[in-house]
Formats: sequence, C-alpha cells, structure tokens
Amino acid sequence: MQEIELRPEEFALFRTYIYEKVGIALSDQKSTLIKGRLNKRLNQLNLQSFRDYYDYLLKDENAEELSLFVSAIATNVTSFFREGAQWKWLEQYLPQLIRMKSEKKIRIWSAGCSSGEEPYTILMFLEQHLHDFDTWDIKILATDISTKVLKHAIEGKYEAKGVETLPSEIIKCSFERNKNAQSYYQIKSSLREKVLFRKYNLVTDPFFFKNKFDMIFCRNVMIYFDDVTRHDLIGRFTTLLPKGSPLFLGSSESLTSHRESLKLLGSSIYQRL
Ligand SMILES: C[S@@+](CC[C@H](N)C(=O)[O-])C[C@H]1O[C@@H](n2cnc3c(N)ncnc32)[C@H](O)[C@@H]1O
Repeated sequence: MQEIELRPEEFALFRTYIYEKVGIALSDQKSTLIKGRLNKRLNQLNLQSFRDYYDYLLKDENAEELSLFVSAIATNVTSFFREGAQWKWLEQYLPQLIRMKSEKKIRIWSAGCSSGEEPYTILMFLEQHLHDFDTWDIKILATDISTKVLKHAIEGKYEAKGVETLPSEIIKCSFERNKNAQSYYQIKSSLREKVLFRKYNLVTDPFFFKNKFDMIFCRNVMIYFDDVTRHDLIGRFTTLLPKGSPLFLGSSESLTSHRESLKLLGSSIYQRL
C-alpha cells in the first residue's frame, strides 16, 4: 500500500468541511489520525493525494463517503444496557410515565444509535418492566449518520460474546437463535418491527418532527461537537420533549447551557422543565 502524506493545508480543508457537515471539531492532533485511518481508503479509491480525496468527498451527493469518513475518525462503540445507572433510574420513572399517558402509546428517539444496541435495550427494558408490554403502541426512532452501523442495526444480529453477558431472562425473551449459526443472536422480529432506523445527520438535517417524544437518548454522540453545535442541538431537543420528560446523555457529558429548560437529575439525565 502506498503511504500518502496529509499536508497541513489539506488537513485545514477537512477540518472546515467536517465541522460544517457533521459538527465535529477536529483538533490539530487529529491530523495523524486522519492520515492513518484514511490512507487505506485513498488506496482503495486509487487516489493520489488527500486533496483528490477532498474533491471526491465534495462530489458525493448521497453523503455515503461522508458517512465512511465519520466512521473512520469517530467511534461507534456501544453495548447493550450501557450506562447502568440510567436504566436503574428509568425503573423508578416508568410508573410516572405510565400515569402521565392518556393513550397507551410511547415514542422515543435514540439519536446517534450506532449499531442498534441502544434502541433495542430500550425495548428489552420496556418488555421486562411493562407487565402489559404487548398492549402498548411503542415506536423507537433510531438515527445515525453512518450507513454502515445502520445496516448492522436493521439486521439486529449480534455476536454471542456481547449478548451472553445479559441476564438469561432477557436473552430468552428478546433474542432468537438460529441452530445453524450459534456464534450470534438476533433480536426477535416483534422487537425489530418497533424500531424505525433512519440515516440522519444531527447537525445539518432539518428537524422535521411533527410530534414530541416521551424521552430522547443522545448518549456519547456530542463528545466531538464544540459548544456552539452542542448548544444548538440541545435547544432543538428541548422543543421535542414535553414538560417532565427526560433527556439522556452519555455519562461523560454534561450541559453547560439550557439550565432554564433542563434540570439535572443525576447520571447525566436531564428533565425538561
Ligand atoms: C459512540 S456512538 C454512541 C452510540 C450509543 N448512543 C451509545 O451511547 O452507546 C456515537 C454515534 O454517533 C454517530 N454520530 C456522530 N456524529 C453524528 C451526527 N452529526 N449525526 C448523527 N450521528 C452522528 C456516530 O456515527 C456513532 O454511531
């Protein structure tokens, strides 16, 4: 493989482009990371320089290459029942949510859902804790910028090692297993049907939503965003949450703005005021 250099002026082009398109603010140190992670891609595309790759990105109308670029520089790491304290909190909150509902309808957004473990965990959780789960109309909107992770999420197949650490009643209740493919588990179809997976860029795509959500999860997504992008996105989330409803962030994330509309309840859970 030919090693292609990333010149400072080329890095500057990517920095501006990726900030405008995805809200990711790249520090100078990320130059080495971009060079290392994208060299293989340039070789695959038969491109001679990062400038050529930049031009290629600009011509990519469906944003497929942008999606690959983001996957190369950001992390898609996720897992079932990530951020354990938040699920404990949700257990306490669920009776209140049920009391608030005039219809048996729950709508949740998993924003930056990666390969699907987060939206499926929400359903597993509800299946375990709502005694009349089957009688509820539950829909999860699960969005991500990366086509690659969304493909995995829609399929809902997960390696045994990531599933077998879950309690056995959840494995029994929420997964199916093919006798001929013992190395993975698949989320059962009745749960998969409750999730609508969509490609969606949280920074540049329009907020087209007609209805509000009972809760929003946007965990470990805004870590790369700068304050302006974060502030803007949180402001838009608040318009989609009815009073009293929770917004879940990642455990390393906290809000420095919007204190008048969101109150910290602990464990990076914020309540719409
Ligand atoms: C670390 S994963 C978090 C997955 C899950 N929320 C969790 O906490 O386990 C971050 C995800 O955010 C997505 N992402 C990054 N920037 C985005 C943007 N501008 N719009 C939508 N998704 C984005 C990435 O593709 C990645 O799948």
